[in-house]
Amino acid sequence: MSHALFRNLTSKNPCMVRGEGIYLFDSEGKRYIDGASGSSLVCNIGHGVKEVAAVLTPQAAELAYNPFHCSHSRAYEDMAERMIRLTPQGFGKVFSVSSGSEAVENTVKFGRQYQVARGLPSKHLVISRWQSYHGNTLGALACSGYTGRRRKHTPILKDAVHIPPAFCYRCHFEKTYPGCELKCARALETAILQEGPENVSAFIAEPVVGAALGGAPAPPGYFQKIREICDTYDVLFIADEVMCGLGRTGANFAIDHWSVAPDLIATGKGMGSGYFPMGASLISDAVSTTVQARGAAFEGVHTCCGHLLGSRVAAVILDYMTKNDLVRNSKQQGELLLQGLEELQASRPSVGDVRGLGLMCGVEFVKDKATGEPYPPELKVAERVMDACLGRGLIVFPGHGTVDGTAGDHLLIGPPLVITSQQVGDLLGILKDAIHAVEKETLT
Ligand SMILES: Cc1ncc(COP(=O)(O)O)c(C=O)c1O
Repeated sequence: MSHALFRNLTSKNPCMVRGEGIYLFDSEGKRYIDGASGSSLVCNIGHGVKEVAAVLTPQAAELAYNPFHCSHSRAYEDMAERMIRLTPQGFGKVFSVSSGSEAVENTVKFGRQYQVARGLPSKHLVISRWQSYHGNTLGALACSGYTGRRRKHTPILKDAVHIPPAFCYRCHFEKTYPGCELKCARALETAILQEGPENVSAFIAEPVVGAALGGAPAPPGYFQKIREICDTYDVLFIADEVMCGLGRTGANFAIDHWSVAPDLIATGKGMGSGYFPMGASLISDAVSTTVQARGAAFEGVHTCCGHLLGSRVAAVILDYMTKNDLVRNSKQQGELLLQGLEELQASRPSVGDVRGLGLMCGVEFVKDKATGEPYPPELKVAERVMDACLGRGLIVFPGHGTVDGTAGDHLLIGPPLVITSQQVGDLLGILKDAIHAVEKETLT
């Protein structure tokens, strides 16, 4: 009997023992295409990268950890310098932590400190969106609009305000872009006015929604409108780029697609690419200088923030991304992947929508393509397709709730950014076969 607690308590998952590029190998020698870069788009640079292995052991032997409260390390400085080269203009500070949830929470706290430093202590509320995911710790979960993960815990979550997502396939306002005049963005203005601008600290959003919507980018113009509203009401804009950042969508940060600069960015996942648990808050000069001008230190300390060994690994990863032109490859292969998914949508009756940006794509399953009617949640369509893929040697990430938080099945597809065109074809072949099998066995 295993004493290790797994997410899925009933199924017997394969035991992974080796990785190479986009492939994972289990203890039986079976090969899998890692079509989700780990558990939800983490391992951006691929598995088994020797450059990372080459720094881990010597650095651990020399010094793995330094006391953050009274010392610093060259590794942390090097990582921060590389990270800032990738951020939008006007960002000058990096604060590293050990996960995306911590990154989100600290980013929100930096925003709050900024408001207090400016003498605006009533600004405390964070507005976010339904069908979003910002992490699973209580503070991050309060921001998250992922019903399946938050509902049981609602009584112990801090109150948060949620507006509808920017999701054209299932527009909450039943409008069509561009005739909608971005009602979903304008909903932020309504929420700010309802709460009172003097009470609102920040708005947080994923430029491309990952786990909760399956690779759904906001429409053109959305974040420009959001920026305008935030400026009008003196509200900070936080981009949650934990999943969609660092090359994943074919740009350094996904928000670059809208040519908008946020005030704060939360990042993670690809930063450590699974080799080390890493996340970070990226802070614009306007925020950091305001807080520092008041002589205040940022209050966001954790045991492993600024981790020396983690920073060393992240610096190698960021260099690897640049040297191997992974942002460009993500854009090119992502276009190919989306094109293949569109063909899949045309040929498979259960595929209602496909979407994505770069190598962050999604497939949504529907019972009726014409109306978008979802399958009953108890059919667990996304899990069935995931299992069918796993059996055929492909890992994908399932999700639910695109319709109303409960109904709606989707898959997130995001292989490592090193994938080749031929491998994109292989991935699509297995996916098509798996969907076909599930349709035949259970959906008809
Ligand atoms: C957009 C986004 N924010 C935050 C998080 C939380 O990151 P972590 O699971 O590393 O705590 C995730 C994780 O999936 C995410 O996708």
